[in-house]
Amino acid sequence: MRLETSTGAPEQVGTPLMVVLVPSELDFEELAGLSRTTGGVLSEAVSSGDFQGRERDRLLGYRRASRGPERVMFAGVGPLSGLTGEKVRAAAGRAVRSAEAARLGSLALCLSYLGPEVDPRWFQAAAEGLVLASWRFDELRSPPAAGTESEDWPPRVESAVVVAAPSRELDPAVEVGQAFAAGENRARTLQARPGNVATPTQLGAEAVRIADEAGLRIEVLGPAEMEAEGMGALLSVAQGSDEEPRLIVLRHDGGDPAAPPLVLVGKGLTFDAGGISIKPAKGMEDMKYDMSGGAAVLGAMLAIGRLGIPANVIGVVPSSENLLNGSATKPGDVVFSRAGKSIEVINTDAEGRLILADALDYAAEWNPAAIVDCATLTGACVIALGHHRSAVLGSDEDLVAEVRSAGDRAGQPCWPLPLDDQYRKQLKSDVADLKNVGGRPAGTITAACFLSEFVGGVPWAHLDIAGTAYGKTKKPYLKDGPNGTPCRLLLEWVRARTGF
Ligand code: BES
Ligand code: MN
Ligand code: ZN
Repeated sequence: MRLETSTGAPEQVGTPLMVVLVPSELDFEELAGLSRTTGGVLSEAVSSGDFQGRERDRLLGYRRASRGPERVMFAGVGPLSGLTGEKVRAAAGRAVRSAEAARLGSLALCLSYLGPEVDPRWFQAAAEGLVLASWRFDELRSPPAAGTESEDWPPRVESAVVVAAPSRELDPAVEVGQAFAAGENRARTLQARPGNVATPTQLGAEAVRIADEAGLRIEVLGPAEMEAEGMGALLSVAQGSDEEPRLIVLRHDGGDPAAPPLVLVGKGLTFDAGGISIKPAKGMEDMKYDMSGGAAVLGAMLAIGRLGIPANVIGVVPSSENLLNGSATKPGDVVFSRAGKSIEVINTDAEGRLILADALDYAAEWNPAAIVDCATLTGACVIALGHHRSAVLGSDEDLVAEVRSAGDRAGQPCWPLPLDDQYRKQLKSDVADLKNVGGRPAGTITAACFLSEFVGGVPWAHLDIAGTAYGKTKKPYLKDGPNGTPCRLLLEWVRARTGF
């Protein structure tokens, strides 16, 4: 979606649909111009009490004047004191849905009446809501015959204008919101692709395209390089599949060359059948989403490069399938990680931590300022937190706090789980340094304990996104299916770290 900004009088903006956010403190005098263009529909609705700017109050008027918006939808957002970025994002999403329903190719979203103290984050959130709502995935479907209509193919809303009172912060905030949302939309597209399309090789090829689009350096390791690096944990997962694994490394050199980088790591398991410890058939198709963490990292790197964020940021995505063939790793096998630790593979379905172990160990050698990883790692996380919050665990309290507040700003909230040493005992193996599962109790925590063995002393936080990266959502700016979580969280975190 193309985005523009306008600081002119809203009643002068030519658009098929203007959605005007109206707080419950609405000042009718301010809105008089727009009310007049629509033949006074607002004044009647306000005096009758039908429209009070309450959240979800809506009123549609049509143009009676010779110019200006053809349709004006007044959309209540409730009291200004309770207005948040997430509410603005949702309102922007609803605005796009209204335009889609009316089969309009463009719209304007007006933030001019949100009081004297408009938070620039609301401009960013508006841009995000618009761009995220415009995402769809139809690259694998036949389009309807020309001239015919189909519910699956509503006409696209191609462009939008964010209208606001003059502010120095409008354009930069909209630019950031657009870049963040475009990165996240790219992540969603990668997630949506099924396992036969988004193989590790294809993900590597896509990362090359992203590097090209965003001006990033890229390196993609294949099996021979992994062998040379001693990445036996990652290779042990890939050996059960005919598809070669990849380790994607994207580098953005935006900071002082001597400054330690921030590293983002994402699990890029393109299909998780469980290996020899095979999963039940029901719902297994969703395991194409087991690369959601990797997709979020690739999307975040796209935005970081495009915005030229003033920091050194490295994105790392270990990618493999987890299938089963005659050479697949068997329960009880012992494999050797790059870090030198031996791992007894009790359950081949606990593969995410194996591919992440080698990726984290590889990244920790760069002495980064911090590592944040994200992974659809445990079903236990879905049981613990459901679909509304990711879990966050880590070795560094301050970093965990940073990640939490980044999640709140992004509308991708997370919640901490403890990482006490007592839980580590569950990973003791009789034959190797570690085993890859710690039993049913505290499955999300023991998985994080396992990862922590591979980050050395680097400040590190881990996001378990098994319940949040995809699924049914009631958010107006999303659709059911892949949602890109935690791409914008990662971006908000990087941004807060760099003060940009
Ligand atoms: N990719 C799965 C985790 C998952 C489960 C993600 C449900 C999304 C929804 C992961 O590789 C896995 O299979 N984990 C096992 C670990 C267990 C064997 C210790 C799990 O959670 O069952
Ligand atoms: Mn698994
Ligand atoms: Zn998995």
